[in-house]
Amino acid sequence: MTVVKNICCIGAGYVGGPTCAVLAYKCPDIKVTIVDLSEARIAAWNSSHLPIYEPGLDEVVFECRGKNLFFSTDVDAAIQEADLIFVSVNTPTKKTGMGAGMAADLAYVESATRRIAQVAQSSKIVVEKSTVPCRTAQSMRTILDANSTPEIHFDILSNPEFLAEGTAIKDLLNPDRVLIGALQTESGIEAQNALVDVYTHWVPKDRVITTNLWSSELSKLAANAMLAQRISSINALSAICEATGADVDEVAFACGKDTRLGSKFLKASVGFGGSCFQKDILNLVYLSRQLNLPEVADYWQQVVTMNEYQKSRFVRHIISTLFNTITNKKIAVLGFAFKKDTGDTRESAAITLIKDFMQENARVAVYDPKVEAEQIYMDLAEPDVEKKVTICASAYEAAEGADAVVIVTEWDEFRDDQLDYTKIYAGMNKPAFLFDGRLLVDAAKLRKIGFKVSVIGKNE
Ligand code: NAD
Ligand code: UGA
Repeated sequence: MTVVKNICCIGAGYVGGPTCAVLAYKCPDIKVTIVDLSEARIAAWNSSHLPIYEPGLDEVVFECRGKNLFFSTDVDAAIQEADLIFVSVNTPTKKTGMGAGMAADLAYVESATRRIAQVAQSSKIVVEKSTVPCRTAQSMRTILDANSTPEIHFDILSNPEFLAEGTAIKDLLNPDRVLIGALQTESGIEAQNALVDVYTHWVPKDRVITTNLWSSELSKLAANAMLAQRISSINALSAICEATGADVDEVAFACGKDTRLGSKFLKASVGFGGSCFQKDILNLVYLSRQLNLPEVADYWQQVVTMNEYQKSRFVRHIISTLFNTITNKKIAVLGFAFKKDTGDTRESAAITLIKDFMQENARVAVYDPKVEAEQIYMDLAEPDVEKKVTICASAYEAAEGADAVVIVTEWDEFRDDQLDYTKIYAGMNKPAFLFDGRLLVDAAKLRKIGFKVSVIGKNE
């Protein structure tokens, strides 16, 4: 029976950092070293200002760091020491070459795997933690097998991560399930059991699912595709609501009460963002096309198409409401992160919206409680962006002199019981418009203050 005593995690990002920090927290008998090529990222993990904002993360890291949790740039040493290695590197959508704009770029997975093959001096269990196309483990196996010897053997597991940002620590401490896929060989199953034993330090055994490798890889893409599909479904209905007078919150509530449907992931919005939904669906679309399944590819593609439509529909509505022009008007954008409780901005709807506002020559003022100004400017990456977009220190500052306030991220502090909308209204140009892209505020209450309010999926 293999007992894991020393774990290395390659990739100290949004997944590797929190996942392995919780693992160290729950398994004091295991030494965990998280490594990354980025010196700046590792320095931040070793500082008092962690590189990622996640509720509860600081407590977990500060409790274990220096005891059984270490952050390092010495990738080779950590690989050599470990019995089990998580590969938790980024797998972005390819920008150029074959499959550009659709397929996952597996260059980072490949280089991490090659590094393991080159420097390992003993047998290892190598765990795919990154989200990858179905059958990636086969490529990793080919690289590792080419470097194995009678003394050094590699087993490969797939253990996709299902945490959501903003609730990562909660999700990791109490996951709905942990999924571990392995080749159904004697040594594959032994490696699978070794990882099961790590997770059952804190996860009830009936929530640790074991499957074959390919089911595990595909389940991750499938789960993200189905979650995003629900959002695109409710967003498609939000357009019908606006045209008919149905209320999308009421429709979601009524549908969600059906236990076969369930109530989660039915919140209409300005469009889903985040680093994974779009990337993973495009990945599934690409895989389907490669497998010569064009109808399947078209089906999943529509989830992304609907998301793009939702964003552009919202922008068009704002412009038409503001008398068909926003040139020189000031638009206050509340929120830049792709969801609340994270500083992550990857694929945030705010980026698309603000770029569209800039195209129309509006003056944009942005406030987000957790996103730094440099990050916002980097994401907008347009010439003269600093002249067109101002980053503000509060919602009040952003709304001062604005023609419209647009709620893009559902931060609690933008709720009408937390933000003083009377004060916001007083500082705005009149008529003062408010566009709620998150169904966050009580529109009737704000109308009483004097705002002209538009809410996604409502036509009041
Ligand atoms: P990230 O970009 O935040 O982190 C990846 C890290 O890997 C970076 O810091 C990078 O420097 C490092 N890296 C890349 N190549 C390396 C190498 N060869 N050696 C050492 N370090 C290397 O990415 P992330 O958000 O943590 O996502 C990682 C994977 O997890 C992706 O496949 C993603 O799809 C998946 N995932 C992400 C989330 C999420 O919420 N962000 C959730 C579930 C799954
Ligand atoms: C998502 C999945 O929820 C995780 O299970 C998965 O591990 C992760 O992707 C991943 O693979 O990266 P994440 O993107 O962090 O997690 O956050 P979500 O809570 O899923 O939100 C994604 C986007 O959908 C956000 O922009 C959010 O505002 C939006 N959303 C979510 C809605 O518009 N409506 C909803 O009802 C739910």
